[in-house]
Amino acid sequence: MKRGHLKLTGIGKSYGTTNVLRGVDLEIQPGEFFALLGPSGSGKTTTLRIVAGLEVPTAGQVLLDGEDATTLPPGKRDVAMVFQSYALYPHMSVFENIAFPLRNIGTPGDQLAGLVREAAARVKIDHLLARKPGALSGGQQQRVALARAIVRKPALFLLDEPLSNLDAKLRAETRVELKRLQRSLGVTAVYVTHDQEEAMSLADRMAVFMNGVLVQQGTPEEVFRRPASVDVAAFLGNPPMNLLPARIENGIATIGTTSFSAPTMASLGSRDVVLGIRPPDVAISERGIDATVTMRENLGDDVIVDFTVGDHLVRARSAAMRELAEGDRVHLHFGEGDLHVFDHKSGFRVAR
Ligand SMILES: Nc1ncnc2c1ncn2[C@@H]1O[C@H](COP(=O)(O)OP(=O)(O)OP(=O)(O)O)[C@@H](O)[C@H]1O
Ligand SMILES: [Mg+2]
Repeated sequence: MKRGHLKLTGIGKSYGTTNVLRGVDLEIQPGEFFALLGPSGSGKTTTLRIVAGLEVPTAGQVLLDGEDATTLPPGKRDVAMVFQSYALYPHMSVFENIAFPLRNIGTPGDQLAGLVREAAARVKIDHLLARKPGALSGGQQQRVALARAIVRKPALFLLDEPLSNLDAKLRAETRVELKRLQRSLGVTAVYVTHDQEEAMSLADRMAVFMNGVLVQQGTPEEVFRRPASVDVAAFLGNPPMNLLPARIENGIATIGTTSFSAPTMASLGSRDVVLGIRPPDVAISERGIDATVTMRENLGDDVIVDFTVGDHLVRARSAAMRELAEGDRVHLHFGEGDLHVFDHKSGFRVAR
């Protein structure tokens, strides 16, 4: 069996009476780059710490390569973790920081230097081995933390927002390098982030957390195309999906005072829903939904235009709307195939 298989079943975690994770089921295949995505406080770090062995779950089981690891201490697991804060030892040189996990497992001295150099070279910091962490830039410190994590060749590589202390440009560059590193090592990676763009661009598959519950998992494409709930829909995309309360009545959809024919929704009968449409799918037409331009933001290649439709804000993202100005009154068209339908009460996606 290939190393780096992870399975969580029914994972729960409470602190006193506060439940921070409930019923988390997750299976990650060897070699996958898997992202845990969700807003602040949704339970991503807690999940990662449970996988690392830094926390013991209140309920459920952690299986690493088929073996029950639920209560196994971190040192007995074949995992390495990179923290947001890097957690380097300030009094040790870069060399000693990277060597630390090797010394811990009693790696013989004649192999040690070679392994440290190899790990450092992979993240391009082999010229910095004699320095102390305090004499490094943020990006360089981050690489030391990565080198320390990979030096032991763990089966599972756990990363908690490892790029969040870097500026936007460096973050985007390091993102690509990180994926390359993971691929070349063939290691399984579990990557925590609250940045949807980061998750979408890095992950083979991802899980979205909301309030301690894993609400959806799949490839970034699947999650983006068919968000399971209004919460997930509102979390993905830039700008995120427009969500409008609406009434469906025998194939007619009504938003505020505007109605339009929606034959594919006829099977839904009469019900209150939330209709979702992504900003790039909002189009202008000759006839359609009355809308007024309230804001226009130039992004260079695209513009983002805010419209009011009745009492609601609708945002569009398009290159074709460049000519619009604040105050313009237009008609919008929502293509039926572009509409996402969610239940008004539960917020869950409605199949049609
Ligand atoms: N030791 C603790 N005692 C009590 N509550 C805790 C403890 N650790 C975490 N929590 C709570 O658990 C919830 C989930 O925390 P967690 O750190 O997993 O969130 P997160 O998704 O990583 O958020 P962020 O994006 O802000 O890092 C939060 O509400 C947090 O306050
Ligand atoms: Mg966190």
